[in-house]
Amino acid sequence: MKDYKLYKCMICGDPYLGDAAPVNCPYCGAKQKHFVDAREYVSPFQQEHNFTAEEKANFKAALDLEIGNASFYQAASQSSEGEIYQWLFKSLMKVEKEHAGIFAKHLKITKPELYEIEASSDGEENLQESHRREERAIESYRAFAAAAVTPRAKQVFTALVEIEEDHLGLED
Ligand SMILES: [Fe+2]
Ligand SMILES: [Fe+2]
Repeated sequence: MKDYKLYKCMICGDPYLGDAAPVNCPYCGAKQKHFVDAREYVSPFQQEHNFTAEEKANFKAALDLEIGNASFYQAASQSSEGEIYQWLFKSLMKVEKEHAGIFAKHLKITKPELYEIEASSDGEENLQESHRREERAIESYRAFAAAAVTPRAKQVFTALVEIEEDHLGLED
């Protein structure tokens, strides 16, 4: 009880109340090391980062990727047979939407809406498509992290590589 306190995620900026920082951010999936005491938090979204043109282009590419993946997970959560698949894709959809929000905030634009996309009624098939999508995201974010020169761009892309790698470990 005495340790119960407020934390903030440095990746998505969301607050978390608990005895300790969570193992993974419940919103964006970032690992525990990215949490700080709320009193020490300085919003990375309000700081001036002077992102390079390449970083901004990569944020935009990442935003499109996340909106696409979130749209796929939304479709998969609705069309997969079996509640376990439906819940799994719903939680992935929420995480990817949160990621889209991070990039939209850094680009200072409104987060785009999800769009209609085809998904299978077979959950296992959707899980395979999920792995293909996560692998594409990881590959892109690795390249974006390597190309990043401002600390915040490097931090975001590196954290996202770790998060999407966790998604690859999912099995039915
Ligand atoms: Fe987070
Ligand atoms: Fe993501």
